[in-house]
Amino acid sequence: MIRISNLTKEFSGQKVLDGLNLDIEKGEVVALVGASGAGKSTFLRSMNYLEQPDSGTIEIDDFKVDFTTISKEDVLILRRKLAMVFQQFNLFERRTALDNVKEGLKIVKKLSDEEATKIAKEELSKVGLSDRENHYPRHLSGGQKQRVALARALAMKPDVLLLDEPTSALDPELVGEVEKSIADAAKSGQTMVLVSHDMSFVRQVADKVLFLEKGHILEEGTPDQLFNHPKEERTKEFFASYKKTFI
Ligand SMILES: Nc1ncnc2c1ncn2[C@@H]1O[C@H](COP(=O)(O)OP(=O)(O)OP(=O)(O)O)[C@@H](O)[C@H]1O
Ligand SMILES: [Mg+2]
Repeated sequence: MIRISNLTKEFSGQKVLDGLNLDIEKGEVVALVGASGAGKSTFLRSMNYLEQPDSGTIEIDDFKVDFTTISKEDVLILRRKLAMVFQQFNLFERRTALDNVKEGLKIVKKLSDEEATKIAKEELSKVGLSDRENHYPRHLSGGQKQRVALARALAMKPDVLLLDEPTSALDPELVGEVEKSIADAAKSGQTMVLVSHDMSFVRQVADKVLFLEKGHILEEGTPDQLFNHPKEERTKEFFASYKKTFI
């Protein structure tokens, strides 16, 4: 069980996260949706302390930290528990796909080269990239790069995988392959928090959808509840505009 309580964050006097609470069950896929500027990325980045929240706590099983007093050691532990996949992949350009996936296993998990290689090969195989192990990022497509980034995050066996618009930097024809790999990881029980503007993917993969507005959760529910039976005016408006554009 992962519990985030009373998360707040201001940027120059503007409240971007306004006391957010969220419980995530093991194996659950939570999607954060909302207009641009609603605070989705800040929420995700605050969870693993890439942004420093002004207040709030996070509990992951027995591990509990208060963001206002978190120690350097706990930041490292937290980041191991919450792995992140970014819009822009963030791969090491001078390392092969295999070495990108091995890096964290060797440096952070301190595995031997042999053990790291074994796990990295397995993870690359799961995302369909066994034949690209020795390629450098510049010789991979955007979709392949993002699948390497996904394999790298999953190799660390994180308690929660954080995904911030993982497909929005991709050419449209490459989106499907990355979404399939994410959906496969979800099916195998990986707990995730996903930020996405791709409502058909959210509908397909999420167990729970949170609609964020001005730094708080305006409405939450299953994809069916939010997409087909939204309660709040603002939520109705948001999903209606998506239906008009994409369906
Ligand atoms: N480092 C920062 N410094 C100052 N303001 C920031 C910073 N990061 C985010 N903000 C502001 O916080 C608000 C929330 O931003 P955030 O990036 O979390 O929104 P978002 O929901 O992810 O939007 P998008 O859908 O466009 O990615 C915005 O008003 C943004 O301008
Ligand atoms: Mg964002």
